[in-house]
Amino acid sequence: MLQLPTEFPDFGLTPEQRREAVRGHYYEWPGMDGSSGEIWCYSERFSYRPGEMVTLFVSSTAPQFGIVIVRDGGVETKVFEKTGLLARWQETPDQCSVEGCGWDATFEFRIGDDWPSGAYRVTLAADDRGGGTIESHHLFIVAPLPGRKPGRLLQVAATGTWLAYNTWGGSNHYQGITGPKRDQYATMVSTQRPWCRGFVVLPKDAPRVPVEVAVPPKTVPRYPHMEWAFATGHSKKYASSGWASYDSHFFRFAERAGYTVDLASQHDLHFSPEILDGYDCVVFVGHDEYWTWEMRDAVDAYVERGGHAARFAGNFMWQTRLEDEGRRQVCYKYRARAEDPAYRGGDVTRATNSWEAPEIGRPGSATFGLNATRGVYAGWGGCAPRGVRGFPVYRPEHWAFAGTGIYYGDLLGADSHVYGYEVDGLDFEIRGGLPYPTAESGAPDGLQVLAVGMASQVEESADIPIEDQFLTDEDGRFTAETLFGEASDANLDKVKRGNGMIVNFPRGKGEIFHAGSCEWVAGLLRQDAMVERVTKNVLDRYLGKS
Ligand SMILES: [Fe+2]
Repeated sequence: MLQLPTEFPDFGLTPEQRREAVRGHYYEWPGMDGSSGEIWCYSERFSYRPGEMVTLFVSSTAPQFGIVIVRDGGVETKVFEKTGLLARWQETPDQCSVEGCGWDATFEFRIGDDWPSGAYRVTLAADDRGGGTIESHHLFIVAPLPGRKPGRLLQVAATGTWLAYNTWGGSNHYQGITGPKRDQYATMVSTQRPWCRGFVVLPKDAPRVPVEVAVPPKTVPRYPHMEWAFATGHSKKYASSGWASYDSHFFRFAERAGYTVDLASQHDLHFSPEILDGYDCVVFVGHDEYWTWEMRDAVDAYVERGGHAARFAGNFMWQTRLEDEGRRQVCYKYRARAEDPAYRGGDVTRATNSWEAPEIGRPGSATFGLNATRGVYAGWGGCAPRGVRGFPVYRPEHWAFAGTGIYYGDLLGADSHVYGYEVDGLDFEIRGGLPYPTAESGAPDGLQVLAVGMASQVEESADIPIEDQFLTDEDGRFTAETLFGEASDANLDKVKRGNGMIVNFPRGKGEIFHAGSCEWVAGLLRQDAMVERVTKNVLDRYLGKS
């Protein structure tokens, strides 16, 4: 068994810096690196098809730069390189996170007809002012051309969540510099800005969110990922979202395991739902929190017609809307009932609130079988820091577990810590030692619960002073208000105990498998044989290989 250290890793921060790392609001902004200079880049879209032109918008303190483009798959393949490109420093509006940077176009290139679908990393490099190098990274997706795709997987990157967490420019759906006191999160975020540091590439030793510590009694929670981010100049949210922390681990695993995988963005799902046609299996992974109504329509119709959806992801939480041809994502979140125009003469079913808000009438479980507000935190902060690290298995005889040797009561993926840091669940009951969704749970007909672990919406400990709580009971109070109309203690008590599940169910002519945890990809990253086997069992069955 894995031996965990009993002390938190330390990145050399003072207690004040550690506090700032967790409580503070720090972010990427043009000019942040001072005298050494900077180079930044974005493209006008998240994804392109072969043969299309890509425009890069670059702002650089150096007059010249070079770019290298690499396809970031099971192996890295360089597809493009150019030096001596001309650049200049471009003015950026204060509210660029919301409005977009509005830079002038810098450089255009054509996607080769032979560039396979996948993620392409752009590295920009230039001389700094002191004889060194400045560098930054961008990422775009090459989406597949239409057509029948026998034997191929389509992975849909969680770009709505990337956008929600992107700290570049100061505002995202969590923290921000909007509002009269410049202290509010943004209800609208723009795609027209660079990705924050750590979304495209990360060093191998970057901590993940769940703590890898055998936590001693009465320990005040620490957050190694935010301390590392603060100490190394990465985004505060690098471990919460992004290609580097999440989506890439499934994509590389699948290619190395011999699958042919195509990649699309959630924007493709929204604007071109036909992108799913022709695939036998579509995959969603990682931290996958923000969806539009149209994206769900695309998946529901695809499965109804006979498609197979495999979701190895957690936190199916918020409805978003896309505006300005997809350049702006809207999500009012906690302020939706007070501020979202959907509540004032608009179509309330499109309110940018939790999917489980009754007025929307479309709980997450109607698409993927599980709900975010019945799940939530596990393995970090004061939320089950000593809890299960893997999924407790109740139905080991299910086809998904074939060949794993797993038994009733075993933990799937505990060594690789696949359970956390946000999980999705259902209200359930145990009968005869087996879990069943309750009648009020919202579970689709025929849903089987294969595994279920505990999760929490609140940090509750007599040993941890309130000022040392980061998660507190805020999310639990919000859930209580959303579901029951008032954030009272009585309602909080109804919602605060969550769970995370693996479920499987049919819909129409198709089927859905859902392991509802953000960290499933940690099992693929850490090459956990049992997690790999379950993943392959699902993919092979859905591709018609077994
Ligand atoms: Fe989340």
